[in-house]
Amino acid sequence: MCFFDKRLLYKGLVVFLVVVLMSSCKDFSKSSLSGKEIRIERKVDSVLQKMTLIEKIGQTAQRGKSSRVKELPEHLKQAVRDGKVGSFLNIMNVEDAAELQRIAIEESPNGIPLIFARDVIHGFKTIFPIPLGQAATFNPHLVERGARISAVEASSKGIRWTFAPMLDISRDPRWGRIAESAGEDSYLTSEMGKAYIKGFQGDSLKETTSIAACAKHFAGYGAAEGGRDYNTANINENLLHNEYLKPFKSAVEANCATFMAGFNELNGVPVSGNSYLLKEVLRNDWGFDGFVVSDWNSVTEMINHGFAKDKKEAASKGINAMLDMEMTSTAYEEHLEELIEEGLFSEKKLNAIVRNILRIKFELGLFENPYFEKDDAVLYAKSHLDAAKEAAVESMVLLKNKEKRLPISKKQKIALIGPLVDAPHEQLGTWTFDGEKEHTITPLQAFKEDKGLEWSYAKGVAYSRDKSKEKFNEAIRAAKSADVIVFFGGEEAILSGEAHSRADLSLPGVQEELLLELSNLGKPIVLVVMAGRPITLERVLPKVDAVLMAWHPGTMGGVALKSLLYGEVSPSGKLPISWPKKAGQIPIYYNHKNTGRPVIPEKYVGIDDIPVGAWQSSLGNTSHYLDAGYLPQWPFGYGLSYSETMISEVQWTPIQPKEGDQISISFTVSNVGKYPIKETIQLYFRDVSASITRPVKELLRFEKIRLDANERKRVNFTFSTEDLKFYNSTKGWSFEPGDFVFWVAKHAQDDINKINLTIE
Ligand code: NOJ
Repeated sequence: MCFFDKRLLYKGLVVFLVVVLMSSCKDFSKSSLSGKEIRIERKVDSVLQKMTLIEKIGQTAQRGKSSRVKELPEHLKQAVRDGKVGSFLNIMNVEDAAELQRIAIEESPNGIPLIFARDVIHGFKTIFPIPLGQAATFNPHLVERGARISAVEASSKGIRWTFAPMLDISRDPRWGRIAESAGEDSYLTSEMGKAYIKGFQGDSLKETTSIAACAKHFAGYGAAEGGRDYNTANINENLLHNEYLKPFKSAVEANCATFMAGFNELNGVPVSGNSYLLKEVLRNDWGFDGFVVSDWNSVTEMINHGFAKDKKEAASKGINAMLDMEMTSTAYEEHLEELIEEGLFSEKKLNAIVRNILRIKFELGLFENPYFEKDDAVLYAKSHLDAAKEAAVESMVLLKNKEKRLPISKKQKIALIGPLVDAPHEQLGTWTFDGEKEHTITPLQAFKEDKGLEWSYAKGVAYSRDKSKEKFNEAIRAAKSADVIVFFGGEEAILSGEAHSRADLSLPGVQEELLLELSNLGKPIVLVVMAGRPITLERVLPKVDAVLMAWHPGTMGGVALKSLLYGEVSPSGKLPISWPKKAGQIPIYYNHKNTGRPVIPEKYVGIDDIPVGAWQSSLGNTSHYLDAGYLPQWPFGYGLSYSETMISEVQWTPIQPKEGDQISISFTVSNVGKYPIKETIQLYFRDVSASITRPVKELLRFEKIRLDANERKRVNFTFSTEDLKFYNSTKGWSFEPGDFVFWVAKHAQDDINKINLTIE
């Protein structure tokens, strides 16, 4: 009896403690917090209580300093001293960063640390391939390792926040920012996004080498009309949830610390003031508890969009949508106080915003450890360069290899031609602020370092857009003395990236002309393309024997290329986007809808098949172009190796799956060639009929496997009916039982291994 009483007593005590704890947490935005989270919320609260309104507004301000201004301006120092700045971007002088942090800690009213941000997109000093190239590796482990290295290098200069990964689904190669994306597929983009986030943020944000990631540009920026940057995006609700938002949702699940709102408007509402996206979806539905930063001036750009009449209204729309931090423009700084006084916003809501920002600063350990130790030894470390080489090797995609022209035998003499054979700045690609061309190995340098090779060299054109044919003769002379011509063509770095959209996607300048002249020599030609997007090659493709897409491969691009060209390693990259034949086919992506009149290949009628004077009718035609057919040049997921692989013995369980089941598809992959390779096997599915139309195919899983010559491996993919759910605006997310087709494949147009399943 006595024992029973004691237990009751203990129980009562525990209940009492929980109630006390919960009541002291009453301001917390969530009730199901872990111990660590509760500790952080307590710390956030204790700081928040001491802050004045001006300081709270200060936390929402992100300021920058132009790199053209040498001295740290006094007004910036004073703003920090007054507690009017929460973050800086692009302060690249470590002494300046240290001084600003010192002022924040020692001289500002509450000693709140600043957070320094930078666009560390595909490397800091050691530059990895552009993100589109990294997506082509189909290897999240390499991507995670690259991001970890970038974090180690960037944090050694005090940077604790990067504006990456970019998770915009990009179905339009005219859009320059496709280079920063993981391409057209939401599953691949999600997997790549998670890998970047894990790499940047490490095991814990608190580690001094961890940097906060930023999922951007939330959302729909990649759907810019006509591929013109900053342009209007109209995406219906179903498509938005089923494609465009998925990678962002998985970023929240991967604990991405911050988000960035896009420049774009989405369905008539600029994202920086879009309550549906920022409040309903991101906070309420997904439970995001980090903070959201605007894009550069995007709050005040709502005036240009025609969504706010002045800065004050822009501030009101941004803050009421719970956009936490304003990058560079000053609408919040100038108008928040007034908005609160007039009752157009409340201090209570501002507290929630400041909490979001302080929470991340605490998680990064900035309050305890605001300073950083400069460590130049980590920059360009040998292991970093090795990792950059491996990423570059795995990113490159072999698109054509007529009569196995590649690899080249070391006994053959090579002519190295083209504008990108020795262009260290260009091969680093877009969004490279810190990587230096002096540390970059170009193909020419890689060849020079290998004494056993015989080669000649002449660029033929000075740079990718060069229109002069003056140097053609030099190139032709160099080519005449060689057995094989390797042409390094493509685009300079500045032709892709922000605000660098193109309407014509062919090789710029007179590169095509040079290639055509070289082809008259009758020698084998290998075309290496370095570019931030797919390049339309219709005119030159018949004239070249092999095509290797190298993207902008980064610091170690030249070494990676040399090892692939000579077969030291086999190419293993796969296209993360459909490669168009002509720009007029865009948008062209593998997971399109079927239409009521899908293509029937046998019935295809091309422009020259139409009889002269034909009767006005559809001629039985289906959904295609008369002058470009219905297929891309190369499909999503495509890429050759130096071997051949086969998929066989496909089995699945359960034989008759039901809703809720785990479904497993296993198969054998055989390397039937003589080179060791890596092959990426892809699992696609089609939901045959549903309450809203579904794409003709969707990527469900992928795995990159290593196979020695003649090796066979059994591979298994597992998924559940949860993975087959889709969003229907009237029903929300659901799985709809019915008929499905699944197939394992080497690319999106390889559909020979089909399994038809009815899932009840
Ligand atoms: C504008 C770009 O859209 C964004 O991606 C970038 O992070 C910011 N500027 C900061 O440089």
